[in-house]
Amino acid sequence: MPLLPAILLRLRARSCNSSAPARSSQACMTRYILAPYVATPDDVVDRMLRLGKVTSKDVVYDLGCGDGRIVIAAAQQFGARGVGVDIEPHWIEESQRNAELAGVDQLVTFKLQDALTVDLSPATVVTLYLVEWSTSKLRPIIESAVKPGTRIVSHSFGIESWAPAKVERFVDAGGHDRTLHLWIAGGPAQQLREGGNS
Ligand SMILES: C[S@@+](CC[C@H](N)C(=O)[O-])C[C@H]1O[C@@H](n2cnc3c(N)ncnc32)[C@H](O)[C@@H]1O
Repeated sequence: MPLLPAILLRLRARSCNSSAPARSSQACMTRYILAPYVATPDDVVDRMLRLGKVTSKDVVYDLGCGDGRIVIAAAQQFGARGVGVDIEPHWIEESQRNAELAGVDQLVTFKLQDALTVDLSPATVVTLYLVEWSTSKLRPIIESAVKPGTRIVSHSFGIESWAPAKVERFVDAGGHDRTLHLWIAGGPAQQLREGGNS
């Protein structure tokens, strides 16, 4: 498996508010860890954005944004607006700092939220670097929410029962094999399953 540690494939973590008097259902929220943190190298980010044909008209959603690099690069390089979502507070803080340092904090927003609950209807491009089981868990959310023409770009992992419109395989600047998948929402979810409108 490329780069993502196999042992962290599927974790179900409990997030508890220690200041709450008891571990009640309100104090503890079950959340899905969709993938461990592993950064997409910058040259691979560039390839993802080019594969998704990102322009200044786009709104790029990165589900599991880590340090925010994908939406920050989309804003810096193409003037796109972006929304990064992560379940870990420290990544949201880091992303916000990085966006300010990069001078694109007017274009990008970071949300501390479970990606499984995100409203994707404003997105024109969705980026993913998760793992196979979690991309498949996101599939119904993407299918039900994205507009026709929305590009979905995944680093490494496919999405169960979706045939990609395009697959790029290459060796990155660090000498690692990489695979990127592109899907294009064609309207009804069925068209995504059949390979989109490429
Ligand atoms: C492999 S990293 C990808 C980071 C970044 N997108 C990149 O490509 O450099 C996956 C990220 O997903 C986040 N994550 C895991 N489960 C999540 C969930 N349920 N909702 C939102 N983010 C999640 C992790 O905290 C981590 O930052």
